[in-house]
Amino acid sequence: MGVLTFNYTVMITLLFSCFIIFNHVYLAHSLIGHTAHDHRFHIQKLQESIKSNFFQRQHVSLSSSPSSSARSNSEVYSVIEFGADPTGKTDSTDAILAAVSEATSVAGDGFLMQGITNLGGVRISLEGGIYKISRPIKLPVAGRGNIMIFGGTLKASDNFTSDSYLLDLSTSSSSDSDYDYEFVTLRDLMLDCNFKGGGIRAVDALRTSIDNCYIAHFTTTGILVHGGHETYIRNTFLGQHITAGGDPNERNFTGTAINLQGNDNAITDVVIFSAQIGIMISGQANIITGVHCYNKAYGFGGTGIYINVPGITQTRIVNSYFDYTGIVAEDPVQLHVSGCFFLGDAFIVLKSVHGVVDGVNIVDNMFYGSNKGVDIVQLDQTKKEFNEIGHVVVNNNVVNGMNAKATVANGVTRVNGTSWTIDFNTILLFPRRIKFVQHALMSDASNSFPKTVLRNISNNQVFIESDMMVEGSASVTVDQGLAMSS
Ligand SMILES: *[C@@H]1O[C@H](CO)[C@@H](O)[C@H](O)[C@H]1NC(C)=O
Ligand SMILES: *[C@@H]1O[C@H](CO)[C@@H](O)[C@H](O)[C@H]1NC(C)=O
Ligand SMILES: *[C@@H]1O[C@H](CO)[C@@H](O)[C@H](O)[C@H]1NC(C)=O
Ligand SMILES: *[C@@H]1O[C@H](CO)[C@@H](O)[C@H](O)[C@H]1NC(C)=O
Repeated sequence: MGVLTFNYTVMITLLFSCFIIFNHVYLAHSLIGHTAHDHRFHIQKLQESIKSNFFQRQHVSLSSSPSSSARSNSEVYSVIEFGADPTGKTDSTDAILAAVSEATSVAGDGFLMQGITNLGGVRISLEGGIYKISRPIKLPVAGRGNIMIFGGTLKASDNFTSDSYLLDLSTSSSSDSDYDYEFVTLRDLMLDCNFKGGGIRAVDALRTSIDNCYIAHFTTTGILVHGGHETYIRNTFLGQHITAGGDPNERNFTGTAINLQGNDNAITDVVIFSAQIGIMISGQANIITGVHCYNKAYGFGGTGIYINVPGITQTRIVNSYFDYTGIVAEDPVQLHVSGCFFLGDAFIVLKSVHGVVDGVNIVDNMFYGSNKGVDIVQLDQTKKEFNEIGHVVVNNNVVNGMNAKATVANGVTRVNGTSWTIDFNTILLFPRRIKFVQHALMSDASNSFPKTVLRNISNNQVFIESDMMVEGSASVTVDQGLAMSS
C-alpha cells in the first residue's frame, strides 16, 4: 500500500511539472514571437512524450484481452466477412455496401421517430482496414435508425463518382416524414477523399453523431449537414491538405471543412487545419465550441467561420481559437462570440447585406496581433451602410498588438477653459453613433461649483460647455447600444 501511494505522488509531481513546462512554452511563444505553428509543434511533442510514458502500463494490460472475432457478436457486421479488402488494393465498394445492406435489413424492434425503424444498435465494423471505394457508402433504404459505422479508413479511388460523399446519409426517394435517419453514429473513421469529392453528408438526418473522425483531401466539403436536426460533430480533424501549419501551398487551399445547412447542430472540439472556409453556417441555433481554425490565413483569402444567415443568425461561438483566420457574419441578428482567442491579427467582420445588426455580443475574447493597427471588429459596408443598429455589445475584450474596438468606452481629459471635447472615434465601432453619455467633472479649485452642459455628440465626439473657467479633469462614458428611453 505504501509503495502505491508513493508512486501516485511521483506521478502527480511529474504531471505538475509538465504543466509548468507547457506554460513556459506558451509564454516563450508570445514573447519572442515564435509562429503559432512552432508553438503547436512543441506542445504536440510534449504531449506525445507524456502520453507514451503515462499510458505504457495500461497498454500492456489491455493487449492481453482476447481478439474479438468478427461475427462472434451478431450485432457486429465485419466488412471483411463480406469480401472487403482491408489492404486497400482492390475495390471494396460492393462488399461494404453488402455489409451495410445486411446490417440494415435486420428486423427492428420498434420505432424511433415516425417512419424510422430502430435497428437496435447494429454496428458495421471496418476492422481497422483501409478500403478503396469508387461509389458512396449509403444506407440502401431510408427510415432506419440506431446504427453505427466505425473503426477504419475509407479512401476514394481514382474513379470515385465525382461531387459525391464517401459516407452519404441521403436518399433520392421522397418520403412523407421530415427525417430519413435517426441516431446514426459514424465514429473512429479516417476518410481520404482523394480530391474526388466530400467526406460525409447527412441530409434530413436526426441525432447524428460524427465522433473522432479524420477527414482529408476533400475538394468540396468535409462534412455537409443539410436539413435535419442535431448533428453532433465531436473530436474531429478536418483538412483538405495534410499539414500542421505553415504550408507553402496554403494560398491554394480550397473547399469548406464543415457546412451546416440546418438548425440545432453542435460542433465541439474540432480542428480544421486546411480549407478555404473552416465552417460555413446557413442555419440557426448552431453552437460552435472549442474549435481551432487554422484552415487558411485571412491574408490568403481564407475564413475561419462564415455565418450566412442574415437577419436571423442565432449562432453561438464560444471558447474557440482563430489562428490567423477570423469570423464573418452577414447582417448578424443574435450572435454571441465569447471566450475565443484570435491570434495573428485575426478579426471579426460584421458584413452588411440589408443594413441590419442587432443582438450581438462580442465580449471577453483575447486578440493578439503584430502592431499593424488591425481593428479587432470591422464593419463591411460596401454593399449597404448599417442603418438598423439594435443592441450590440462589443466590450471587455483583451487586446494586444491590435486596435481595440468597442461599443462602450470611457475617456478622461485634462480641462482648462470653458469647454472641452473628447473624441471617441478611434475606439467606437459604429461611426456617428452615441446613444448614451455620462459625464463627471473634477475641478482643481476647491471653492468653485461650475455648471456644465452636454452640447454635442455628433461624429462620436462629446462636446461639453461650462458656465465658468475650469481647471481639472473630465471623465466621460459613452455607449453605442440602445439606451432605455421613456
Ligand atoms: C472503379 O474502378 C474499379 C477497379 O479499380 C472498378 O471495380 C469499379 O467498378 C470502378 N467504378 C466505377 C464507378 O467506375
Ligand atoms: C497555386 O495556384 C496557382 C494558380 O492556380 C499556381 O500558379 C501555383 O503554382 C499554385 N501554387 C502552388 C505552390 O502549388
Ligand atoms: C490654463 O489656461 C490659462 C489661460 O487660459 C493659463 O494661464 C494657465 O497656465 C493654464 N493652466 C495650465 C495648467 O495649463
Ligand atoms: C455639433 O457639432 C458639429 C461639428 O462637430 C456641427 O456640425 C453641428 O452643427 C453641431 N450641432 C449642434 C446642435 O450644435
